[in-house]
Amino acid sequence: MKEQPMNLQTISSAFSLLFEGKEPEVITRAPGRVNLIGEHTDYNDGFVFPMAIDFQIITAARKRQDRLVRIHSLDYQKTVEFSLEEPISYDYKQRWSNYLRGVLAILMEKGEYLTGLELAFSGDIPQGSGLSSSAALEVSTALALQALNNFTMSGPELAYLCQRAENTFVGMNCGIMDQFISMMGRRAHGLFLDCRSLQYRHIPLELGEYRFLICHSGVKHSLVDSEYNKRRRECETAVAILSQKKPKIKALRDATLSELNASRNELGQTIYRRCYHVITENQRVLESIESLKEKDLVAFGKLMNGSHQSLRDDYQVSCPEIDLLVDFARNFSGVLGSRITGGGFGGCTVTLIQNSFIPNFSQRITAYYQEKTGIVPHLYISRPAAGAELIKIH
Ligand code: GLA
Repeated sequence: MKEQPMNLQTISSAFSLLFEGKEPEVITRAPGRVNLIGEHTDYNDGFVFPMAIDFQIITAARKRQDRLVRIHSLDYQKTVEFSLEEPISYDYKQRWSNYLRGVLAILMEKGEYLTGLELAFSGDIPQGSGLSSSAALEVSTALALQALNNFTMSGPELAYLCQRAENTFVGMNCGIMDQFISMMGRRAHGLFLDCRSLQYRHIPLELGEYRFLICHSGVKHSLVDSEYNKRRRECETAVAILSQKKPKIKALRDATLSELNASRNELGQTIYRRCYHVITENQRVLESIESLKEKDLVAFGKLMNGSHQSLRDDYQVSCPEIDLLVDFARNFSGVLGSRITGGGFGGCTVTLIQNSFIPNFSQRITAYYQEKTGIVPHLYISRPAAGAELIKIH
């Protein structure tokens, strides 16, 4: 179902072939993620509950004596080179390199002195799937730079730095969720994160007979970035209006449904619905954590369904292809819940399904989706995986 990821030996050999026979000094890995519940809540200071997945970016690097940076993408078979003596600029041709450039640029902005380096990376996180390959690339780069340059930052600090790289250098105004889970995930656990305080708890995912099945729709509609930023602006407008009556409302996280209803007319229909989603979604995340404590996967699945409905109807970030997948899944025996995951407008769904139903389900949903859309969906099963790590250092 998925390509074989690179292992230590293959990345080391590839590195040596590329860089004059030299061995890497450090090797790091960082996983992608699937968000189980809590969508479009992170930038509203709310709650999220993602898990890291068995797909990752693996990075090999070594220091240079000078300040030249040579970066090679093993998957694109492309190299970029630039010097840290000059301001780091955005690369319009090799756009993938901006995630690494961004991390270097933010670290330098923070006053870290960085040496030049050689770096090669490869990954098996499906591109354009919304499973956070860019966050994983930032995180594995940040860990490698930390090891090479001997500075010490905590995991949450590094995650925050990577988010800033994406916001300010890459220009994607994402929240903290993706970088945080990639850095801080734990095997067999989901991560409950309060995106305001950045306090987090690893919650055991005791799934028994059940699995999280990820279904990639194969579509990524071009409005994803513009609509994402538009949703953020709508939330900010809402806070400006709500805080006039209740100054304690600094983010949608602080608003209750009754406060929302009290300002319904001032907000207007669209913004009201956006807020309704965020407030109820935060509530669903809290309830989903309770349901796991009680080992009630049926309740967890219902909350996933509620989340999808809210994202589709109120936040309006789904699309017809995703709705086809979710509706099909919900009507299938053995499925407890199904929803869109990630930013929206394409990407993946996540479905909680009984193990023994997976082969039949996979066959049927593939045929159905292909018949309706002409697109072959890709299905992945992932266990909740470990977060990023430094796996080799000389
Ligand atoms: C994208 C962003 C995240 C988050 C989700 C929606 O994945 O990168 O920060 O906002 O969308 O929940």
